[in-house]
This record gives sequence, C-alpha cells and structure tokens, in this order.
Amino acid sequence: MAEKAHLREVGLRDGLQLVKTILTTEQKLEWCRRELEAGVTDIEVTSFVPPKVVPQFADAAEVAAGAVAMMAEFEDFRPSALVPNLKGAERAIAIGVPQINYVLSASEEHNLANVRRTTQESIDDFARIIAARDASAKGRIKIASGIATAYGCTISGVVSEDRVVEIAVKLLELGVDELIVADTVGYGDPGQVRRIMAAVVKEAGSVPVACHFHDTRGLGLANVTAALDVGVRIFDASLGGLGGCPFAPGASGNIDSEDTAYLLAALGYETGVDIDRLVALRRDVEEWLPGERFAGAIARAGLPKTFQPALAA
Ligand code: COA
Ligand code: ZN
Repeated sequence: MAEKAHLREVGLRDGLQLVKTILTTEQKLEWCRRELEAGVTDIEVTSFVPPKVVPQFADAAEVAAGAVAMMAEFEDFRPSALVPNLKGAERAIAIGVPQINYVLSASEEHNLANVRRTTQESIDDFARIIAARDASAKGRIKIASGIATAYGCTISGVVSEDRVVEIAVKLLELGVDELIVADTVGYGDPGQVRRIMAAVVKEAGSVPVACHFHDTRGLGLANVTAALDVGVRIFDASLGGLGGCPFAPGASGNIDSEDTAYLLAALGYETGVDIDRLVALRRDVEEWLPGERFAGAIARAGLPKTFQPALAA
C-alpha cells in the first residue's frame, strides 16, 4: 500500500495573479471541476483580496460559492481560499469555504509591500481571524497560514532560518491548522529546504505542514524531494507552472502540477491524480490564456511508456 502525498492545485489563485487575461467565473469553475475529475481534491480556488488590488479575483465570492456547491458532488473535495487579512477571512467564512489560507511574510519588507503592514501586525490579525472562525465556524473551517519569502526575498535579501521557525511557532501557539512554508521568489535550495522544513515539521507535531515552491531557478522539484525526505507530504503546485506574486519583483511560476504529480507518483506516493487528464485541462487553459508562459516537461514530452503510478490502497 503506497503512502499518500497531496498535491494542492493553486493555479486558480497563485497561477492567475499575474496573467493578463481575466478568466470568466464559468471558466474558473470549469477549471476547478476538471481538476476534480482528474483526481485533484485539494484546490485553492480563489483569493479574497480587494478587486482594486488584484482585479482577477473580483468574482472571488462567486467562485468560492461555486466550489463549495461542488462539494456535494465530489465528497473528498476540500476547496480553500487565500485571504490577506481579517476582512478577507470574514468573506470566506460567510461562504463556508472549508479551508482558509492566510498569508504573511517572513521578510518584513515583503510583508509591507504585499499586505501593507508589519509581520507582527499580520500575526496579530491572524489571532483575530482564529477568533472570528471560533465564533461562528469552529470545527467546520480550518485556518492555515502561509509563511511567504521563507527562503529569501527579492526586496530584502536574506531571511534568517531562525525567524521562519519562530514565526511558525507563534502561528502554532495561536492555533493554526496547517502551515504552508513558501519560497515565494524561488531562492530555496534542497539543503535549505531540509534544514527549514525539518525544524518546522518538528515544531508542528501533529499539525500538517505543506510546502509552496516556485521554480524560478530550476530547483523546484529538487526542493520537493528534499521536503519529502524530512516528512512533508503536502505540496502546492500550479497547472502549467503558472504563478507569481505581484508584490515580489522577479517572481515567476510555481512548480508545475503535472510534473509534480509525476514526480510524486514516480517516487511511489499515491496522489490520486490522473496526469493525462491534467495535461488535457492544461491544453485548454493554455488557449484561455494567450501569451502567457507555460512551463512543465510532461506536457511537452508525455509520460514514459514505462510509467506505473502507485496504486490506491
Ligand atoms: N477584500 C475586500 N475588500 C477589502 C479587503 C478584502 N480582503 N481588505 C480590505 N478591503 C477594503 C476595505 O474595506 C477598504 O475599503 P473602503 O476603501 O471602501 O473602505 C479598502 O479595501 C482598504 O482597506 P485597508 O484595510 O486599509 O487595506 P489596505 O489598503 O491597507 O490593503 C490589503 C491591505 C491586505 C487588503 C492589501 O494589501 C492586499 O489585498 N494584499 C494582498 C496582495 C496579494 O494578493 N498578494 C498576492 C498573494 S500572497
Ligand atoms: Zn506563490
């Protein structure tokens, strides 16, 4: 029986942040449905930010409500949504999104650029989000938190590894349900990943820990294997390798979902993902988003004839 590893599709959130074309709500929900049909059950479907900040997410409420409605059809489906502050969390809670992914940055400068306050102010807001959830949706809604720029920052440079672990500990003390350690700008290498993730996994105990890698410098999948080595089993990835933070100069795409699913399966993990269906969806999304740069090797070269995915138990 193969061990499970989870791929969380973030193309509908991170992937769409920098693209020029604004997809319709129907296209976003079709993307979501076809991920589910391809066996991807963990999907970050949108971002509750002000439309003025990221116009692509002006329909966040409609997309989130559409995704929540799909939970009746796909029983394992766990949609999530990104929120940058309490107001975003309140919008997500009102719709009943079962997982909220909050975001703050280990780099003070990136936190200021991204959410216009200090990291400590973001941590204080996180406590208010937990309280808001507990008041109306305790047991129904999980609150995860991302720690962005954990491997370094294009604005401020080095981010200390101790600081990342200290922030993780503060979030754990406040009751975070999952930690998502993010290499927002693609500075991380496998050695750093092993050190930081081993320390975070140790502090987290039974709280799940995820990694969010960008493949800006070609080390994305090497970083996945390093994180697997120290016990991480949840990975954010984006269809076609789209993605990037609008407030991190030089940021580029996430690790590619099709390639990540292939790597996890090749290493013997059961992901439940049908890679061919994911590639077929990617072909359509490529047509929806003309002029965008799509990455990924499996979509270009196909799966090997010898490929045998790990079988479900
Ligand atoms: N959703 C919708 N509207 C929101 C909101 C949210 N999550 N947060 C704030 N607003 C509204 C406020 O109600 C206020 O509206 P008003 O002018 O009509 O009164 C306005 O936006 C400004 O609110 P304020 O609290 O002062 O926000 P801000 O201007 O300091 O911006 C953030 C803070 C966090 C909202 C903004 O920096 C942001 O959206 N950052 C996220 C960036 C991002 O998406 N990065 C990539 C993902 S990591
Ligand atoms: Zn990202």
